[in-house]
Amino acid sequence: MKHLTSIDDLTAQQVEKLLQRAMAFKAGAAKPQYATLVGHLFYENSTRTKISFEIAAHHLGMKVIHFDAPHSSENKGEIITDTVHNLAAMGVQQIVVRHTENGLPEKLRLACGEQVAVINAGDGQNEHPTQALLDLMTIASQKPDLSALKIAIVGNIKHSRVAHSFQKLSRLMGVKELFLVAPPIWQPDTKWSSDRITEHLHEGLEGADVVMVLRVQRERLQSHENLSLETYHQQFAVKRDSLALTRPDVMIMHPGPVNRGIEIDSEVVDGPHSVILQQVRNGIWMRMAILEALQVGV
Ligand code: NCD
Repeated sequence: MKHLTSIDDLTAQQVEKLLQRAMAFKAGAAKPQYATLVGHLFYENSTRTKISFEIAAHHLGMKVIHFDAPHSSENKGEIITDTVHNLAAMGVQQIVVRHTENGLPEKLRLACGEQVAVINAGDGQNEHPTQALLDLMTIASQKPDLSALKIAIVGNIKHSRVAHSFQKLSRLMGVKELFLVAPPIWQPDTKWSSDRITEHLHEGLEGADVVMVLRVQRERLQSHENLSLETYHQQFAVKRDSLALTRPDVMIMHPGPVNRGIEIDSEVVDGPHSVILQQVRNGIWMRMAILEALQVGV
């Protein structure tokens, strides 16, 4: 593994290795120290992803260099591929990129991939592979037999890079059933033949082992895609009553940031089935496994 710009970069065997390594770190395995310089290029807001990559690097002795886009020479017309070539010339070996442009990490990989390893930390509405991997780790640590699971993703699937990467990863790893629940205007353009799409929340929740709730990404909607938040809440929000339909040991997930009272009620966010903060914690171990794999190979 030289880069991680998409779930397409991974084989099932590599995913297994990353899961095992992340779980070993979580269980207290020794943390090797690497003198790697990691560049953080976050052009879009982030709390969990940015900080957990930073903590992961810190645990492995790697140094994080923050690229401050608004105060950089990109303000003077420098293009991002030149920025990355310059960072590489100064010894940066890995870059973690978040950007609004779909496909930008792939573009950087093609332009600079000989000099630096590129990690996609979320590109536009395209992919967010490290989130999908930490989500899979969270699921597998409680429900390891993926071939027996019904997983429902609820929300704005069309615009969600989290959902897109998770759809690919579920297919790669043989999840039994993936239900995509969304109002018709937020349903994805493409799906795998094994995925089920519905606009009825109860169909997705019925017997679900895992329910992944997505944020209503108001900033990504065009005017014709807008829905009233009240109607959305009535028809699609995951509420305490919704849990009567799922399996009794259902795991409730959300990648954050959570909009309480819109896509999910507070009682569920803070309730006994919520693994939302476990996802956040697992993000550190999984990102350690990824940074290490790019350094030494997997
Ligand atoms: C998401 C993102 O930024 O893609 N959050 C995350 O990385 N944990 C989801 C979102 O923005 O809704």
